[in-house]
Amino acid sequence: MPDDASLCRTPDAVQSFLEGLYQSCRELRGGKVADYIPELAKVDPNLFGICLVTADGQVFEVGDTAHLFTIQSISKVFVQGLALEDHGRDYVLARVGVEPTGDAFNAIILDEASKRPYNPMVNAGAIATTSLIAGDGPTERLNRLLDMFRRYVGHDIVVDVATYVSERATGDRNRAMAYLMRHFKMVDWDIEEALDLYFQQCSVMVSCRDLAVMAATLANQGVNPMTGDRAVEAGYVRDMLSVMYTCGMYNFAGEWAYRVGLPAKSGVCGGIIAVVPDQLGIAVFSPPLDGRGNSVRGVRVCEAISQEFGLHLFDSSRGCHYFLEHLGGKERLISLSKENS
Ligand code: DON
Repeated sequence: MPDDASLCRTPDAVQSFLEGLYQSCRELRGGKVADYIPELAKVDPNLFGICLVTADGQVFEVGDTAHLFTIQSISKVFVQGLALEDHGRDYVLARVGVEPTGDAFNAIILDEASKRPYNPMVNAGAIATTSLIAGDGPTERLNRLLDMFRRYVGHDIVVDVATYVSERATGDRNRAMAYLMRHFKMVDWDIEEALDLYFQQCSVMVSCRDLAVMAATLANQGVNPMTGDRAVEAGYVRDMLSVMYTCGMYNFAGEWAYRVGLPAKSGVCGGIIAVVPDQLGIAVFSPPLDGRGNSVRGVRVCEAISQEFGLHLFDSSRGCHYFLEHLGGKERLISLSKENS
């Protein structure tokens, strides 16, 4: 058990904390749903769900955790993992950097010297990353992408055609970035094909619960804790979490790291995932966004969960327990099982 007994929780206490948090955050009325993709503007702004899945498969949820929505930018993390599996770290790093930009997710910028997009989490870097997915033609690439998502969620995956078509019809800003990258020879295959696959990956449908399982899979070194299936090679989880930590919340990444202290990724759907390595996946869904494109309630919920359970990665007591855990096989930091309560 951790020395700090205040960090230990029974499952019932975790569930009732989430329920209280859900009620208090429902009162937050700020933000605006994304409308630059017309199909996204149709979402009900009142939808709200919170889900935690532990690295050993325990689920805690409240609110609209089964409602399906399009994954949007949260997909970028998982596609980065697939690109790494396809080509290895050095090749992917030569094509897409790992530097935070401090700019908006849709900024049309490339690194001046290398002509690489800055990182796989901003749109330019995500399109370049998607263009690295191996496969013989668009169908095989899409199928590989869907298979990858299927391993993370543990069930079949569908693409929302209405959102895909809506984004493809209005995605000229992304198109501009993609053509700029083609100009610098940073994208190999047909640019419209790469964009098409990117728009499809953003339109993959997930629930808040699915996102929590995906986050828990990263927490569990790439193995889905519900199915036992490996979703990504363990060695690449480190890469994915590092980039999430520094770049996942865009031009809020620094303040997020400071306040919440967890690798995370947001999307204009209103979803946020956060990962507590070896412990927990967190997902929140609430469509109204702040000025940087992050869910207003999502940010507040993650901050409260991190604080309540002492999850900030640089919290000194937590770091100490990690070290001991590795040294002596100590119990998990958050003791959620009945025997340990
Ligand atoms: O490229 C786009 O505009 C979207 N498909 C995804 C953007 C997104 O979710 C950015 N996240 N905050």
